[in-house]
Amino acid sequence: MTITFKREVDLKTTRCFEKLFEPSLRLSLSEKRKLINNAFAVWMFVNGKLAGEVYGLGASILWTMDKIPDMQPNGSDTYLYSIAVLPEFRGFGYGKVLMAYWLGLVGQYYKRAIWHSTSEEMVKLSHTFGAKTHNTRRRWCGTKKNAIFTTLDL
Ligand SMILES: CC(C)(COP(=O)(O)OP(=O)(O)OC[C@H]1O[C@@H](n2cnc3c(N)ncnc32)[C@H](O)[C@@H]1OP(=O)(O)O)[C@@H](O)C(=O)NCCC(=O)NCCS
Repeated sequence: MTITFKREVDLKTTRCFEKLFEPSLRLSLSEKRKLINNAFAVWMFVNGKLAGEVYGLGASILWTMDKIPDMQPNGSDTYLYSIAVLPEFRGFGYGKVLMAYWLGLVGQYYKRAIWHSTSEEMVKLSHTFGAKTHNTRRRWCGTKKNAIFTTLDL
């Protein structure tokens, strides 16, 4: 088994990840292009097959979404906007590998990573890295899910 990473791919080949999220969270191709242009993005391949995607950007975007009072994001914070592993690759530790790769990458530029979890798997993934739990936002971005916010010093 071989795991490889790419920092640039044709975004049209990454539409499979949008389908994993609820409609209100899905990005159009042009929205994704705009975000990725300013993001630290990584795609993971397992035996040459696309398996995972993660991207994050400066945490100032949080202020455009809503206020996250007990975190006070600043210029040395990065916000993990999205992480996903395709269903057929889940549960084998690939999420941890992808997250570790991304944290190592952004750790060269930022002092703290902020993200949110809306699923049990993501909460577990956050615990793996020792992330600190902050406040919970109810009905995250038009979904029925709650988002648990966490931070990790890099
Ligand atoms: C979150 C996600 C990236 C994890 O990917 P993964 O490759 O399955 O993760 P790993 O195999 O590395 O496992 C990470 C942790 O999740 C747990 N986990 C994996 N699948 C699980 C499941 N179906 N139910 C509960 N926990 C699960 C693992 O046991 C592990 O925790 P542990 O270390 O305590 O054992 C993946 O589930 C996913 O893409 N989900 C949909 C998108 C999403 O919710 N992204 C996060 C946005 S908030």
